[in-house]
Amino acid sequence: MKTLAQPIYLDHNATTPPLPEVVNVVCEAMRTAYGNPSSGHRQGEPARRLLQRARGTLQSYLGTPDEQFVFTGSGTEANNLALRSLARHSNCIITSAIEHSSILSSATRIQAKGISAEVIAATAEGEVDLRALRQQLMVHRHAAVSIQWINNETGVIQPILEITALAREHGALVHIDAAQAIGKIDTNIIEELGPDFLSLTAHKFNGPAGVGVLYARQPALIDPLCIGGGQQGGWHAGTENTAGIAGLQHALELRYSELSEAIAHMAQLRNTFEQTVLDLCPWVHVNGRKDQRVCNTSNLCFEDIDGQALVGRLDTLGVYCSQSSACTTGRPEPSHVLLAMGLSEAQAYASVRFSFGVTNTHQEAELAATIVVAEAEHLKRIFA
Ligand SMILES: Cc1ncc(COP(=O)(O)O)c(C=O)c1O
Repeated sequence: MKTLAQPIYLDHNATTPPLPEVVNVVCEAMRTAYGNPSSGHRQGEPARRLLQRARGTLQSYLGTPDEQFVFTGSGTEANNLALRSLARHSNCIITSAIEHSSILSSATRIQAKGISAEVIAATAEGEVDLRALRQQLMVHRHAAVSIQWINNETGVIQPILEITALAREHGALVHIDAAQAIGKIDTNIIEELGPDFLSLTAHKFNGPAGVGVLYARQPALIDPLCIGGGQQGGWHAGTENTAGIAGLQHALELRYSELSEAIAHMAQLRNTFEQTVLDLCPWVHVNGRKDQRVCNTSNLCFEDIDGQALVGRLDTLGVYCSQSSACTTGRPEPSHVLLAMGLSEAQAYASVRFSFGVTNTHQEAELAATIVVAEAEHLKRIFA
């Protein structure tokens, strides 16, 4: 098979290409709003206005009751800030085995400081186990809960309404990691959820990388990670990345002005791709609860073949996807998410994630499916 002249990018859960309009807005902000928003003189004014505007946009699209948003350098930083703050006001953090590494590592660090952390199990379908959550909430008084809205590897949408309701019932603070939810799901339930903290990151919805946000219902609960100047109310010191924040604001506006169309488009591409692969390779199966998945993600287990070999061959041909594994000591580890769902090591290694974005086309979805089928069948013959 020949390498594609135009590669097909199917790794949007890792990061998305910034839209050209977003790049223009970032460049324009660097030219015109370069002043320090904390400066008293007039050159600080465009930067201050830009931050204010971004907070307004976040509030109107996320439907939070107020504009208490802290800008951070990434979703990881927002998650670290959230967990640190929860730990300050509780004696146990309850999280799940399928969280992003920024949550799981923060939970481990918190434990080293003498605060307990409970990592609850996931079901075989990739959902947080609600019974285990209830049990932990009953055992630990003054607990706090940190759960993701959508899993980055399987795309499974977590039962977030039930999770927050359970936490509230037990008087626990709640943090939602919404990094994979913003721009891919209708978020008009955020007001109803009433999270104490919610994190997001711009590069998952065609904004720039390096710009995260932490919403804090009560900013007084924040235990700052960064101290120094009094920026952002002292909750996160450091001169703000105004150009990046302008890019986040514009990317959010573009996505939310056509949210249902964007969701429908990604779902159509994902479904076309996935159905073709499943029809032509009946030995492949979907990881995670199919009817509770975000619109763009397909995590497929190619039984008995090495997923890394498949990702490598696809890369050579110009189809970019990923194996959800962490490379810690030079040797890729099997995905902790898939293992937590009960997959064997071999099945986890045989799994590959394809994640679509708004910039993908129908033709790309069809072509990628054809290439994936041919390569998977080829490897199946070799591994047989
Ligand atoms: C669920 C989830 N949380 C947090 C993050 C971290 O975001 P960032 O890459 O901006 O640090 C990611 C990124 O993949 C994610 O998928």
